[in-house]
Amino acid sequence: MDARGLFQRLAEAEQSHLLRFWDQLSPEERAGLTLDLQGIDFQEINGFFRKATDVSRGSVEKMDGRMAPVPREVLGSVTRDEARVKSWEQTGLQCISRGKVAVVLLAGGQGSRLGVPYPKGMFDVGLPSRKTLFQVQAERILKLQQLAEETLHSKSSIPWYIMTSSRTMDSTEEFFSRHDYFGLDKNNVMFFWQGMLPAMDHQGKMILESKSKVSMAPDGNGGLYRALKNQGVLEHMQQRGVECIHVYCVDNILVKVADPAFLGFCVQHHADCGAKVVEKSHPTEAVGVVCKVDGKYQVVEYSEIAMETAQKRGADGRLLFNAGNIANHFFSFSFLKDVVEKYEPSLQHHVAQKKIPFVDHRGRLSTPDKPNGIKMEKFVFDVFQFAETFVVYEVLREDEFSPLKNADRQNGRDTPTTARHALMSLHHRWVLNAGGHFIDENGTRLPAIPSLKDRSDLPIKCEVSPLVSYGGEGIRALVKDREFQSPLVIDESGVHQLVRDGK
Ligand code: UD1
Repeated sequence: MDARGLFQRLAEAEQSHLLRFWDQLSPEERAGLTLDLQGIDFQEINGFFRKATDVSRGSVEKMDGRMAPVPREVLGSVTRDEARVKSWEQTGLQCISRGKVAVVLLAGGQGSRLGVPYPKGMFDVGLPSRKTLFQVQAERILKLQQLAEETLHSKSSIPWYIMTSSRTMDSTEEFFSRHDYFGLDKNNVMFFWQGMLPAMDHQGKMILESKSKVSMAPDGNGGLYRALKNQGVLEHMQQRGVECIHVYCVDNILVKVADPAFLGFCVQHHADCGAKVVEKSHPTEAVGVVCKVDGKYQVVEYSEIAMETAQKRGADGRLLFNAGNIANHFFSFSFLKDVVEKYEPSLQHHVAQKKIPFVDHRGRLSTPDKPNGIKMEKFVFDVFQFAETFVVYEVLREDEFSPLKNADRQNGRDTPTTARHALMSLHHRWVLNAGGHFIDENGTRLPAIPSLKDRSDLPIKCEVSPLVSYGGEGIRALVKDREFQSPLVIDESGVHQLVRDGK
């Protein structure tokens, strides 16, 4: 397209300001800007803006009376239904061993709260092993493949589809390749990228982040569905005969990737779709809540719930909307196909108010101190409403949920420190449950629950490699009736008591 055509297209879309600095740009900058603008469907995005801002206006106030908690009959629980967990697990392992299970990792976010210039999965929270989130997750997949093989004597693999964005694609792929796919077969690790959308001001004008660049951001984790179609991922799954898909977010250090019990629970209930939840801890916890809105399953996101609703309590004193979404979802392949082929276009964008750096009319970069615009995002869970059979699986927070959202600061929530402590505390419990003991430097046994008086509020340092145990199984022979000093590391090469430890 020549410059004249470009000017005309933008004028029609009422976005001519994007070419405001055209005369000052070098030929390379002009070419780059032209290319970026050609990739934008202005009419579609203007439409998204109109719809998204209409819907977001007043939606919080109106939601309250339409919300209802998850009914008991669709709930499964690792505690209340303990006797059935083994059977669910068997079903899940069978699906894995028959090659019916795929895993989708949502890793296209920008991780802006954590504030690192690389993808969050590459973050090292400071475990004794110094493993990154990607490595921990890869090793859980490896272990699960092995468990499925041992249980059912048939070799299988779990394809892992990793969603990135154009900003994180190269660094993510390069990281996996540099680490030799953490022992996985590289043919079973597939990368794809989600779409990007321009940031807009409150009048619907796209924002320039430099004289020659439009400010763009990933289109939300619900961008998954478009990406699955556009990049042939769905087709790839179909060719492999995938029937169940576990979709999860990159930041939860405790995530049970392709958890066979969760998969088996959903499969036994013939679910189209399922969500894992933990009990929401307090009204302002930053988790969405799974509930019904106008009779349809939905997650009401923490940024969109009214405080009055978030604080409501039931007769038992617990939060009424307490099914905290931990971003672990199950989809049957046929449901996912329907979503991608039929329902995706009807998903609404959510609006996030943001402080978006912009160039002012003189071309100077300016960083606002209050929100000056919006980003539009689709959410992965907005497809729950289309499920005919929807189930909810309740798990224990201390076993399965410790997300990494923020950088370390004193008493901060969801930080590298809280993630590291959560993992080590879980593994400490695994060792105790398998009959091991911890002693101090004088040989005295440490109580299972350390006293705050002794400054023992820091967890005992204990890390069990996922290559040794997926969920606490298989370590009895290594630890029973043995005494250990912290830090203890159990990995494929044996049981190690580290003499020195960086953290
Ligand atoms: C998310 C959930 C929230 C849940 C919480 C639990 C959504 C929309 N919200 O909130 O209900 O209680 O996790 O920790 O799922 N991502 C992309 N592309 C994007 C944006 C995000 O792939 O465009 C990925 C991120 O890489 C991450 C995940 O989605 O893995 C969650 O993103 P994040 O922005 O951290 O979600 P939260 O607001 O914490």
